[in-house]
Amino acid sequence: MATEKSPNLVVFYGSQTGNAEWIAKNIHEEAIKRGFSSECYVLNEHDKTDLSKQKVLIFVTSSTGDGDPPDNSTKFFRYMRKIKSKTFLSHAKFTILGLGDTNYSNFNNTAKRLEKRLLEFGSSPFYEKGMADDAVGLELVVDSWIANLWDPLANVCVQKQNGENGKCEKGEENGKSEIKENGKIEIKESGKGEGEGNGKSVGEESGKGEGEGDGKSKSKEIEENKNPEDVISTVKNLSIKELEKHSSESGISGNKIILDLSELANSTQLTALPRVPIEHCKIIKSNKEKKRSFLPSFIITPNPIINAKLNAVRCLTRFDSVKKTLHLELDIKDHSEEIQFFPGDAFGIIAPNDNLLVHNILTALGINENDANQEISVEHIEKENELSTHLKNAKSTSIFELFQYGVDLTSSPRKALLRMMAEYTSNDQEKKTLLFLCSKQGVKQFNCLREQIPTLLDLLVTFPSCKPPVERLLDVLPAHQSRYYSIVNSPLVNREELHFAFNIIDYYTPIPYEVHKFGVCTPWLNKLSGNITEVNIRTIITPPIIDIPIFMKPNSSGFKIPSDLSKSLIMIGPGTGVAPFVGFLQHREKQIENQILESKKQLLLGEMWLFYGCREKEKDFLYRQELEGFLQRGILKELLVTFSRTPDIITSDKPTSDNGLTKSKYVQNLMRIRGNEIFELLNQKEAMIFVCGDAKGMAKDVNDALTDILVEHGKMQRSDALNLLVKWMGEKRYLRDLWA
Ligand SMILES: Cc1cc2nc3c(=O)[nH]c(=O)nc-3n(C[C@H](O)[C@H](O)[C@H](O)COP(=O)(O)OP(=O)(O)OC[C@H]3O[C@@H](n4cnc5c(N)ncnc54)[C@H](O)[C@@H]3O)c2cc1C
Ligand SMILES: NC(=O)c1ccc[n+]([C@@H]2O[C@H](COP(=O)([O-])OP(=O)(O)OC[C@H]3O[C@@H](n4cnc5c(N)ncnc54)[C@H](OP(=O)(O)O)[C@@H]3O)[C@@H](O)[C@H]2O)c1
Ligand SMILES: Cc1cc2nc3c(=O)[nH]c(=O)nc-3n(C[C@H](O)[C@H](O)[C@H](O)COP(=O)(O)O)c2cc1C
Repeated sequence: MATEKSPNLVVFYGSQTGNAEWIAKNIHEEAIKRGFSSECYVLNEHDKTDLSKQKVLIFVTSSTGDGDPPDNSTKFFRYMRKIKSKTFLSHAKFTILGLGDTNYSNFNNTAKRLEKRLLEFGSSPFYEKGMADDAVGLELVVDSWIANLWDPLANVCVQKQNGENGKCEKGEENGKSEIKENGKIEIKESGKGEGEGNGKSVGEESGKGEGEGDGKSKSKEIEENKNPEDVISTVKNLSIKELEKHSSESGISGNKIILDLSELANSTQLTALPRVPIEHCKIIKSNKEKKRSFLPSFIITPNPIINAKLNAVRCLTRFDSVKKTLHLELDIKDHSEEIQFFPGDAFGIIAPNDNLLVHNILTALGINENDANQEISVEHIEKENELSTHLKNAKSTSIFELFQYGVDLTSSPRKALLRMMAEYTSNDQEKKTLLFLCSKQGVKQFNCLREQIPTLLDLLVTFPSCKPPVERLLDVLPAHQSRYYSIVNSPLVNREELHFAFNIIDYYTPIPYEVHKFGVCTPWLNKLSGNITEVNIRTIITPPIIDIPIFMKPNSSGFKIPSDLSKSLIMIGPGTGVAPFVGFLQHREKQIENQILESKKQLLLGEMWLFYGCREKEKDFLYRQELEGFLQRGILKELLVTFSRTPDIITSDKPTSDNGLTKSKYVQNLMRIRGNEIFELLNQKEAMIFVCGDAKGMAKDVNDALTDILVEHGKMQRSDALNLLVKWMGEKRYLRDLWA
């Protein structure tokens, strides 16, 4: 057996927002530490190694879109499609870790597709695949999957004896900490084996008590009574009063996380602790102050960044609606030659983390303004290794910029962050709590923590003796994400502008926490556009002109209006999901006008049906005027609107009429009511189906409604109906653009 082992392994990743990349690179680096010889590549760069010779392959891939492969793996999937040989990978053993989210109906579709393909190529698994779910926390699967990987890996791959942690533990023993009688914690590092742990005892090792620092962190204590003058210099355009008001109103001053620690009091041993995250980053300081630039140069986008000018804003909802929705218009005149777009495409906005949040985090870490604004570069501790994509180009930047645009400060923390923070926490009780939250015993409380969606600042406020160095935070904080928006306008109507619509993310965490939370991008856009509230009044933004950094994201899944005017379309888009369909309708209207002008003869036109849903007709019927206009002009054959919170709403599927608008709660109810006609459209006119908006509930419910329609009106078996919908998805006749 020993002679058959592969001399090395290759870790491949496909990642849209950085999770799979981070996990793959950690597996790769840990494998090396354990004495394996490993290479690590993004899937699109599979040709950096020779797949026909590699014998042990580890794939970590997420899914995006509607079960689609991440952008940085599409070339690889195209390459795999072209290969016909059934023995192409028969020499290789593989395993797959899929990252997905059960809010999406095609859960972990990319990983499943990849597995199928590898098996078709004659490859066989050396270790059972893992399917992690972001809806409940990736760690639940990822941690134990990695912990249990090493033994099977050692069966197929040569492991040098001198590798660190040559012995692998099973998931449960991944790491342990014991709470001793004197209340101190003894940590047995995962990967070092029982008895091999570093036996570090908090307080004992450093000999330092509460609040004195752990001897590792170079940062200072929180400056409790920070002079507001210091704050003002980093936060532009806000007076001290505004700043204080903003800070307390927005929760940007930090909220203590509510935890029930009774189970910790009863625990003498904490098990299944993740390993302390591997250190990747080091910061090289220069003595210069960082020159201000419009955007940091480390930001990597799939297409070039352009500065769009904020031209006009319109509030689409009444002041008393549940959500506030804005319509913004961006001027891209200066770039209209280089930019092509179609209804169905989206674009990305690079929005910064809130200045004040960044400032407060840096203050909590004890980083003064000079240090925050000094010019720095980020490098990998080990020269031969590459940093994660979002840090790869972090040269001539500053800590402030990195926190503004480089790392995610607001989404639910990974266990790796808590585990790392424990290492830099001097107070025993706080350290114990952090370890507890990462442990098997603390799963319930970890979930409570996730429900509260704490920012990094909330964590630092809850654990004030925790002073991690910036480098260690850079190791574990996820990449800051651009936010995408569907284009509302057709280029045939106006190619010098991009219009889009969005809800301002502003909500309270569930009872009993009830903390006011804000999104990153949409509150920023709301503020930039003047926080307007009057409904449907278009306000032109007068100078000073506001620049918004954007980049184009052409739709790659086929969610585009067909150029063939004879195609019938069934469009389903409640809430802001209606956005691309306004563009579809504008586009078709213009296409019809153009064709009539050109050919002057009768056109064969397909029907356009729109199912739209909102809460109340007078409050949040987005683009009502425009949609009713399309109906009147005959571009829309049917405009079918549901109101979910109109007091006299009839929630059954029985139709009643209200000035031509049929009443029922949600779009899917209305679809069932009009099931016969939908079936006729599908059956006789081969209509295409487009669904846009919320992936969590709506997309699944609409899929169920379509299935029911095929069963009831097409007299099909349920399984046949489901298969037909899958087939239509494959043929790009049933297309969805979804977001959870
Ligand atoms: C291809 C594509 C196109 C898109 N098009 C549009 C579009 O046209 N219009 C549009 O509005 N959005 C669109 N989105 C979504 C958009 O990109 C952003 O995700 C959205 O605007 C939120 O951004 P944010 O930075 O303001 O909020 P974030 O900082 O990203 O916060 C959002 C997060 O807050 C949490 N959250 C929000 N509300 C609640 C709540 N009530 N309870 C608990 N938690 C909550 C959730 O975790 C959510 O993920 C699109 C997404 C994609 C991928
Ligand atoms: N291209 C894209 O990917 C894209 C484009 C635009 C928007 N989006 C995303 O789509 C999501 C939803 O949009 P939104 O927030 O604007 O919608 P919304 O305002 O929250 O809801 C719109 C309507 O849908 C109803 N609704 C709730 N649950 C439903 C279900 N299971 N089935 C059908 N209807 C349901 C709501 O009713 P009640 O509230 O009364 O229950 C409301 O009447 C957002 O996350 C947004 O970011 C994505
Ligand atoms: C726009 C979007 C679409 C997604 N689509 C799917 C999907 O169809 N199926 C799925 O299982 N997960 C889906 N996910 C969840 C991601 O796969 C999951 O969050 C994963 O952790 C992302 O890893 P990455 O950062 O490596 O891309 C989607 C996430 C987003 C943001």
